[in-house]
Amino acid sequence: MDPLTDGVVTLVRWRQEDLDVLVRTVSGSLEHLGGWLGWATGGYGEADAKEFLRAQETGESRDYAIRGPGGVVVGGCGLMDRDPGREIGYWLAKEHTGRGYVTRAAALLVAESWREGATFVDIKHDERNERSGAVPRRLGFIHHGEELADPVAPECSGFTHVWRMTRPEWIG
Ligand SMILES: CC(C)(COP(=O)(O)OP(=O)(O)OC[C@H]1O[C@@H](n2cnc3c(N)ncnc32)[C@H](O)[C@@H]1OP(=O)(O)O)[C@@H](O)C(=O)NCCC(=O)NCCS
Repeated sequence: MDPLTDGVVTLVRWRQEDLDVLVRTVSGSLEHLGGWLGWATGGYGEADAKEFLRAQETGESRDYAIRGPGGVVVGGCGLMDRDPGREIGYWLAKEHTGRGYVTRAAALLVAESWREGATFVDIKHDERNERSGAVPRRLGFIHHGEELADPVAPECSGFTHVWRMTRPEWIG
């Protein structure tokens, strides 16, 4: 599948050969990621990355490496089927935050969702995760509701905000 790019970030599906860079990138930002992401809470090693990459091959998950300028892997994002819509998730290595990379990545996944015929795109985040909430807000998502979930990671309260963008009529 072709990479998705806006000229600054490029989204490429994770491949087996990304094993080392995936482990390095996640484990180098464990403190930053582990508070919010259940899969990064108890450490992250080769076995975790292998399982994740296997799920990409079997089609259970659709996740992309986010590559920044120079092709450097800066983080990851995923597109989940929520028929007839989609849901987006994302993370960045700590040293690559604050440059708009995830906002750009999410915008690319929104465009991809419209190309696939999705009728809406959701972004969900814990109420305490303000930086995550700023992403859909920046992109013009509308606050759609709240959900109570079991806290997935130590910083989370479990109170989840749902943001939604609806397929624009002009796209058809
Ligand atoms: C959530 C997370 C990915 C957000 O990272 P982020 O760096 O704030 O997001 P972006 O890459 O979109 O960058 C936005 C920042 O870059 C700035 N920026 C610079 N150029 C920009 C551009 N062209 N477009 C948008 N923002 C830009 C923005 O002003 C903003 O900075 P500010 O927060 O100081 O105002 C990050 O905090 C993270 O990895 N957290 C841990 C994992 C996590 O919580 N994942 C989400 C679970 S729901």
